[in-house]
Amino acid sequence: MNHAVLDAIRSRRVARALTDEPVEHDQLRTILDSARYAPHAGNRRLHRYVVVTRPSLLRAVRMVSPGMLQRPTAAIVVCVDWAQVHNYGFPPASPGPYIDVGTAAATLLLAAHSVGLGAGPVTSFSRTALATILKLPAGVRPELIISLGHAANEQPPAMRRQGRPRWEALIQWERG
Ligand SMILES: Cc1cc2nc3c(=O)[nH]c(=O)nc-3n(C[C@H](O)[C@H](O)[C@H](O)COP(=O)(O)O)c2cc1C
Repeated sequence: MNHAVLDAIRSRRVARALTDEPVEHDQLRTILDSARYAPHAGNRRLHRYVVVTRPSLLRAVRMVSPGMLQRPTAAIVVCVDWAQVHNYGFPPASPGPYIDVGTAAATLLLAAHSVGLGAGPVTSFSRTALATILKLPAGVRPELIISLGHAANEQPPAMRRQGRPRWEALIQWERG
């Protein structure tokens, strides 16, 4: 049996220390291409992916993103086109578009890992400031950033050193 996917899931870790080496354009394209294979609610295309590689723009993104602990050499900003969400008749409180941000993020992180890059999700940032910096059209809001780069050999400790729980600890089996 081929365990390549399971191996990738188990070996991916957030990289918070990245080198200055730029991300190759081909690597970026491969990662971006993976996003369209992520499952999404209603099979709608409600997400837009904004690519940032210019150092001055990356610096500006970092300035409004306290959760961005890395100094990435590239970033993909996952945005939701809320105007489209409205047009498609999704109820305002529908969780679908947010869940889709998660499936896209997981897919992008695994794709980055597959091409040998370090990556990390960031949700702690100012949506308003980032939308302005990126010149996003009205109705399109940034919801999550994927920082990208080449992982440094030494990584800071994980956010909370609590170890990985046993899978049984997270599960409730069906009850009869
Ligand atoms: C929705 C979401 C938001 C996150 N936001 C941040 C963030 O702002 N900054 C950060 O350094 N890591 C962020 N992370 C990464 C988590 O801290 C990380 O996945 C967790 O510590 C487990 O580490 P691992 O993925 O290497 O196993 C986020 C992860 C998720 C799923």
